Amino acid sequence: MNFPVQAISSKISADELRAVDQPIEQARGMPNAAYIDQELFEFEREHVFASNWVAIAFVDQLEEASVKPVDFMGLPILISKTKRGEVKVFHNVCSHRGMKLVQEQKKTNGLLVCPYHSWTYSLNGELKATPHIGGVGVHQADGFQCANHGLKEIRCHIWLGIIFVNLDRQAAEFEQDANGVIERYRKLMGDSGEPSIRCAATDAGLTMDLECNWKLAVENYLEAYHLPFIHPSLNTYSPLAEHRNEIFGEKCAGQITSTFDPKLDSDNPLPLFPDWDKSRLETGEYPAVYPNVLLGFQANHLFAMIIHPLSPTKCREELMIFYVSDEANSDRFTDTRRANLQAWTQVFNEDVGPCERMQIGRNSPGYLGGAFSPVHDTCSHHFHKWIARQYMQYYAEISAS
Ligand code: FES
Ligand SMILES: [Fe+2]
Repeated sequence: MNFPVQAISSKISADELRAVDQPIEQARGMPNAAYIDQELFEFEREHVFASNWVAIAFVDQLEEASVKPVDFMGLPILISKTKRGEVKVFHNVCSHRGMKLVQEQKKTNGLLVCPYHSWTYSLNGELKATPHIGGVGVHQADGFQCANHGLKEIRCHIWLGIIFVNLDRQAAEFEQDANGVIERYRKLMGDSGEPSIRCAATDAGLTMDLECNWKLAVENYLEAYHLPFIHPSLNTYSPLAEHRNEIFGEKCAGQITSTFDPKLDSDNPLPLFPDWDKSRLETGEYPAVYPNVLLGFQANHLFAMIIHPLSPTKCREELMIFYVSDEANSDRFTDTRRANLQAWTQVFNEDVGPCERMQIGRNSPGYLGGAFSPVHDTCSHHFHKWIARQYMQYYAEISAS
């Protein structure tokens, strides 16, 4: 979708974007319009989300030979997992007359039949059958090649059990694009880290709907400043004073704490990442991978949160927790897994109110992007600058064309 720069810049001017991209002491945040305006929401779909690698789901949400439809900011998308466990992503639209192909998540016999005229696809997206296309009882037609009419595939990549897609196909390879953050966490978890993660067998996650723009959920995650005020319980076992901010590259930043010890498994310790630095067992790292993934790394578990933008003023958070090895999923740790999910649920629930009240604040003409703490908000500012640059890049491209 093309957005004339005049239409967008009448809502957010280049001067307002430049005000974001300033040293933190003088910088403002993104203007209110970016949090409330429907046209800017659609603009961000095209020029923040489609042009980058974005998370849409977790691999473990699908069993073998099943499909899961995802509504991504109004775009119908389909994830398939074949009998052999291969994941593919397609536009969820039939190649014939464009009906949305799959309405709900389901197990399949390996075939997807469009309800309208029964065109049939494999889970690899190949068009396999076109009943009566050439007349009643004639299932082929001269000049019609099934091979030209399969489902339209979307570029995807899996990292840490998260399915990322790049809708415009223009982004660099995921491994290159997210190189800094991948390398950092490969080192922290060790080479054996990613292969050993297992989606929690029980109490694996939660879904929360928030009445706020998706960016507020990211911004809230990027600072620990609010920790003593909003998370008094978390602050006892992971205090603000032990946190620091770090930038991990162009599109990743977050909190690192040297002390995270909720003492949930003291009597019955969960398996640890085997190569995790034993001198840093209480380290917790909480990066956001822009635009819409929040991660939490601890020595005995990992969590990932996908933020799904639903409208300018609504988003959905989907959390999944992963443990280390099959052993961690045994009955021996059922109570620990439950306690861990409860602890994180409390933390994430505590964040909902502030995010929703920041959203209300975005309706105020008395708020012009606000200010940043030069000490605590360096990651939030980094994210704001990244967003502002996505806008500015578009302004520059359109002005040059
Ligand atoms: S629209 Fe799907 S078979 Fe006709
Ligand atoms: Fe928080």
